[in-house]
Amino acid sequence: PPLSAIQNIHDFEYLAKNILPIGAWSYYSCGADDEISMRENHYAYQRIFFRPRVCVDVSEVDPSTELLGSKTSVPFYVTATAMAKLGNPGGECSIARGAGKEGVIQMISTLSSNSLEEIAAARIPGATQWFQLYVNEDREMTHELIQKAEELGMKAIFITVDAPTLGNREKDRRSKFSDDPNLDLGKDAQRGSGASRALSSFIDCHLNWDDIIEIKGMTKLPVLIKGIQRVEDIFKAAEIGCSGVVLSNHGGRQLDTSPPPVEVLAEAVPLLQKMDKLKPGFEIFIDGGVRRGTDILKAVALGDNKVKVGVGLGRPFLYSNSAYGEEGVRKAIQLLKDEVELDMRLLGVRNLNELNRNFVDTRRLWSG
Ligand code: FNR
Repeated sequence: PPLSAIQNIHDFEYLAKNILPIGAWSYYSCGADDEISMRENHYAYQRIFFRPRVCVDVSEVDPSTELLGSKTSVPFYVTATAMAKLGNPGGECSIARGAGKEGVIQMISTLSSNSLEEIAAARIPGATQWFQLYVNEDREMTHELIQKAEELGMKAIFITVDAPTLGNREKDRRSKFSDDPNLDLGKDAQRGSGASRALSSFIDCHLNWDDIIEIKGMTKLPVLIKGIQRVEDIFKAAEIGCSGVVLSNHGGRQLDTSPPPVEVLAEAVPLLQKMDKLKPGFEIFIDGGVRRGTDILKAVALGDNKVKVGVGLGRPFLYSNSAYGEEGVRKAIQLLKDEVELDMRLLGVRNLNELNRNFVDTRRLWSG
């Protein structure tokens, strides 16, 4: 269908399922075990209701903000996902162009199918890119990768910590597309074990907090931890001087029945407020299951003036890129932006500073 026929983010998923080869579809869409976390990531947002404010002049609304000091037209970003070329030969470069043209930040995966040089070269002038780091057992390689990310103008390093070993992704294993001899999985790949395992066999399963401190010392860039799933670990990351965390269960692809990140967020922010040592400017990011403008605004509302919240989306951009390339990515962003602006009007908030916990009712969140 023409791009103009696409109404929402779900439409891209439906299309991707129909057009992608089974291996690519399985790799992108799968979750772990029974995919309970993957589903709950999304459903948890549906257990939060708004408390809209009426009779506010909403003729002008502005969803722009800053994330880690970089301007963005909206409070969401494209999060790191591996292997964009499986769905579209334009790969991560076409995602870079689509996001950049819409004023949206892109987080680039260590397991991207384009080189970091290529993706940096595809960056639209003035756009922001962050780098997601999988820590290699070979620390020298990790050091070099961080230096390369710095030299190529990445503005932050997100260390992913929720994958010391791969989750049980059965759909992916069944499709066995890693056996395809035409697929370049890189030199470290182990074939015959499902795409995920083949890709990620180098990740250091020994990684601990001391290593994080050491890696933090390798760069002047802000370092954040991606894959935090409990409040205690947010504290830990804050204590060792990280600039923030990403609350994430890897889109439900790692430990099944790990909590929906929005529940962790709702629990964490009031506790963080009480932490006096919290570094000013500590930011919380959240990803998993975000598919609507309302989801985005709920997450942002759960932050406060001490803890700012930014929202990541993964699969929606793989799907829109697979179906329409750069233009699809732009369309996905525009749809979400339109939803955010419409929802802000109906909610009675003109800019994101006005949004706070008072606009959401979380009572059903844990009882659902
Ligand atoms: C991911 N994710 C991920 N995370 C990461 O830190 N490095 C990576 O290379 C990847 N690769 C990856 C591939 C695919 C196909 C998916 C679906 C996900 C996890 C990703 O960053 C993010 O946490 C989730 O995708 C968020 O959930 P949604 O928005 O996809 O529901």
